[in-house]
Amino acid sequence: MRRKLIAGNWKMNELKTEGLELAQAVFDKCAGQKLPFDVLICPPMSLLGMVADLPHEVVGVGSQDVACTTKSAGAFTGDVSATMVKDLGATHTLVGHSERRTMHHETDEVVCQKALNAMNAGLTAVVCIGETEIERENGEALTVVARQIKGSVPKTATADNCVIAYEPVWAIGTGKTPTTEDVAEVHTAIRQELTSLLGEKIASQMRILYGGSVKPSNAKELLSVENVDGALIGGASLKIEDFWGIAATQL
Ligand code: PGA
Repeated sequence: MRRKLIAGNWKMNELKTEGLELAQAVFDKCAGQKLPFDVLICPPMSLLGMVADLPHEVVGVGSQDVACTTKSAGAFTGDVSATMVKDLGATHTLVGHSERRTMHHETDEVVCQKALNAMNAGLTAVVCIGETEIERENGEALTVVARQIKGSVPKTATADNCVIAYEPVWAIGTGKTPTTEDVAEVHTAIRQELTSLLGEKIASQMRILYGGSVKPSNAKELLSVENVDGALIGGASLKIEDFWGIAATQL
């Protein structure tokens, strides 16, 4: 049985005071609860250590990226290695978010290396994939995600050290979402691709999140789709009412 994962991606948002308040609000919601799902928050790197240092139970804390170099330290100005992220107290990291693939020209090869660095440092890598609007219109969604899975998921991935997040690029921050049929089709295809890459056992246990304009009003429906094992939430993770409104649909 795959436990659902409700994950927040804060992106480049929140200064110290508001960010720590938001993290505390999430931690408070989870404290002392036996929740039927896992919770993860990914604050910006500027707050990662401070958020991880707040006393909390159960909730995972992740970075939004790690360095690509295989070295854990060295002359890489501006980069933060997976080892450093782990050292701050993080449990997870996103890799290959579409904003990084687009704005920082990250290829599948780069994303795969980052995922591997994360796993080697003891972090769980949340590998993000998803087609663009043009690719969807051209009927290429399944080919694109299959290629991204093959190229971005390390061969050593397991259900413990890797999570997949399917985020159609055109659904991110736009308020648009795919139909539940489309989500089901892509998630099933991803599971099949994982099976050929990693074998039946690992593929059947690995969580596949849906991301892109998830909000309290559509969360129940999206999260009830077969093979959807949680949500990666951007905009709606910045307000505790919305983030928890989404999580509460799973209570
Ligand atoms: P969104 O972003 O929920 O604001 O669409 C999702 C994401 O980019 O992870």
